[in-house]
Amino acid sequence: MRIAMIGTGYVGLVSGACFSEFGVSVTCVDKDAGKIERLLRGDIPIYEPGLDQLVAGNAAAGRLSFTTDLTAAIAGADAVFIAVGTPSRRGDGHADLSYVFAAAAEIGAALAELPAQRTVIVTKSTVPVGTGRQVGQILRKALPGGAFDVASNPEFLREGSAIQDFMRPDRVVIGTGSEHAREVLGALYRPLYLLETPMVFTAIETAELIKYAANAFLATKITFINEVADLCEAVGADVQDVARGIGLDGRIGRKFLHAGPGFGGSCFPKDCQALVRTAEEAGAPLSIVDTVLKVNDVRKRQMAERIAAACGGSVAGKTLAVLGLTFKPNTDDMRDSPSLSILPPLRAAGATIRAFDPEGTAEAEKLMPDLEYCIDAYEAMQGADALVLITEWNEFRGLDLGRVRELLRTPVVVDLRNIYKPEEMAKAGLVYHSIGRPSGAPPKRPTELRAIA
Ligand SMILES: NC(=O)c1ccc[n+]([C@@H]2O[C@H](COP(=O)([O-])OP(=O)(O)OC[C@H]3O[C@@H](n4cnc5c(N)ncnc54)[C@H](O)[C@@H]3O)[C@@H](O)[C@H]2O)c1
Repeated sequence: MRIAMIGTGYVGLVSGACFSEFGVSVTCVDKDAGKIERLLRGDIPIYEPGLDQLVAGNAAAGRLSFTTDLTAAIAGADAVFIAVGTPSRRGDGHADLSYVFAAAAEIGAALAELPAQRTVIVTKSTVPVGTGRQVGQILRKALPGGAFDVASNPEFLREGSAIQDFMRPDRVVIGTGSEHAREVLGALYRPLYLLETPMVFTAIETAELIKYAANAFLATKITFINEVADLCEAVGADVQDVARGIGLDGRIGRKFLHAGPGFGGSCFPKDCQALVRTAEEAGAPLSIVDTVLKVNDVRKRQMAERIAAACGGSVAGKTLAVLGLTFKPNTDDMRDSPSLSILPPLRAAGATIRAFDPEGTAEAEKLMPDLEYCIDAYEAMQGADALVLITEWNEFRGLDLGRVRELLRTPVVVDLRNIYKPEEMAKAGLVYHSIGRPSGAPPKRPTELRAIA
């Protein structure tokens, strides 16, 4: 089979490379000539673990190629996937569909030039309900009477574990009213049938909504545990034990119950916003999701205040060592990262920020040029008044605490991801602040009494 993937970003490049690994002949298209030039040189424009080998192997095998020429890419393709960005539209929070519609128009124009072929046009981008239908209208205008089918195949991969997520997904969702599209997409995903991956075949509108409902639910789960963490702090409970205690209930599940600085990233904030707008316009408002967005925005801003409080109430003239800038570990993606809400107010309040991120520095420098970027975690800590952990990269989980204590001018650690145990931090002589847990300060009651209680 042959496919074209329009848009070679986090989703398009990973999906294209994974389909080629399934044995499909894939041409990835991007209008960003610089990106395609890098890919042709074997240079991967994003950081995603394992992607370089996957791309190199399949390109060498002749199954994966890159071009800016959309017409050449879709000639003879059984399916064309649209995997372009759908950012928030400035001002109103709706999804900006201009890239999707432009891609659909370009596909229509290219198909009109090519000898007749039957092609399935699949939207992989996250798009609001009704977009698939509009894509169909755009194509019909370009190809009156042409042989094409439309489908929705939302993507659920997570940056940082994208290849594993694509190769072993919890489910594949395919929305279409066309039997031919169902057959083509079923054949493309056939390798997953062997793993007994559930396939959800449904209508286009339902597939489009599944993606938004999934992201909004996950964002709600995070926000729920974040509010519970605040309650834990107020009443002296431990949010990690609460999360475990509720998460072991199969109806709730343990994932996405990690208290932290609030969700960010390239999907949850914009997708929740777009869903809220869609629901409002449909006259069926989703007030839970609306509240989740508001609570999350406030939370991210409050993190700066929390850091200032840990520094004695003010960061003016102080130096903060910050570890982790990307919205999650194992990616270089800075889109809507919590660090972007937390660090600028601290800079404005007079803090000097010495930051380190294993992969995100190049992107972060563009967005926060007035931070000092360090080459490793320990360099950032040198002479700092506090250490702030924002993103839980693995390499921050095993810091040499003795060295941390020596390097910091004042031994204050603010851990927004709860990656350390309060007891071990107290033992290392560090004043430890985390989220929703009793502090690392020695217990008020004798430990033997605590053990009995
Ligand atoms: N990033 C994620 O983790 C993730 C996960 C699931 C779903 N999604 C959804 O997938 C979609 C893509 O997200 P992304 O993170 O890969 O975006 P991205 O910004 O990384 O990549 C989009 C790419 O599309 C290219 N492009 C735009 N218009 C084009 C056109 N007409 N022709 C060719 N190329 C074009 C851009 O140059 C860019 O390289 C979005 O709708 C997003 O919500 C993203």
